Amino acid sequence: MLSHTNEQGAPIIVIMGPPGSGKGTQGDLLEHNGVLKKVSTGDILRSHVKRGTDLGKKVSAIIDAGKFVSDEILAELVECELNSLSKTPVLLDGYPRNEKQAKNFGQSKAFSRLIKVIFLSVSKDFLVKRLLGRLVCSSCGTTFHLKSLPPKLDGLCDGCGGDLISRNDDAKEIVERRLVQYEKETEPLLNYYNKLGLLETVDGRSDPKEVYVEIMSKINKITKNHRSTG
Ligand code: AP5
Ligand code: MG
Repeated sequence: MLSHTNEQGAPIIVIMGPPGSGKGTQGDLLEHNGVLKKVSTGDILRSHVKRGTDLGKKVSAIIDAGKFVSDEILAELVECELNSLSKTPVLLDGYPRNEKQAKNFGQSKAFSRLIKVIFLSVSKDFLVKRLLGRLVCSSCGTTFHLKSLPPKLDGLCDGCGGDLISRNDDAKEIVERRLVQYEKETEPLLNYYNKLGLLETVDGRSDPKEVYVEIMSKINKITKNHRSTG
């Protein structure tokens, strides 16, 4: 696991990027290899929907429509999750997503643990192809792709044998809406984190394993810098 826990707690790295840039895919690899624990707001919200909790009932239609869930709900959800993981190095995927959320995050206790924001840079033509071909296991949530990462058996998860489905928000017109919303609300945060000296950009267009290697080299550099200054 990523080391250099300080008195504020274990480090947090935010992974940012447009829908389909590979945040979840890279988060799963980092978690699987024991580098960081992935905390994905999208995964947490979808798990509430699946379990039919009060929160799940409230947000289900919003997620399917590709709109943002309220900033208040997200602030509480993320704060609670990060505080419960104060000693665990975390990769935060999907938060913050707009100016208000960045402000809320900046004022939260967990913000002092933020050491970098990794931006996965991928152009729109790649994103649409990735999202329209994405398949997700309905049981364990593992992600596949019809062309770039097909399952060994058609329609079935390699890991648990569960049925593979498409996410409701991966319908073509919803994908368009999510991409527009990302450009309008989320992309401006890159400039904000760049000014804070926290931003690292990774080319997310290559093969997932190559992207992973590049992310790991950034993480190793961060760790080394912290050791030499700390
Ligand atoms: P969320 O689940 O976070 O969706 P997103 O940001 O739109 O991102 P995606 O999960 O679609 O893409 P990804 O970057 O994880 O790509 P992936 O690795 O899967 O949020 C969903 C919804 O929840 C929101 O719309 C909103 O309603 C709500 N929500 C969440 N957070 C919120 C917040 N903070 N505020 C308000 N509302 C919030 O990859 C995609 C596909 O590409 C896969 O098939 C994969 O196999 C393939 N792939 C990945 N990498 C590569 C590669 N390098 N080469 C080829 N194929 C690749
Ligand atoms: Mg994701």
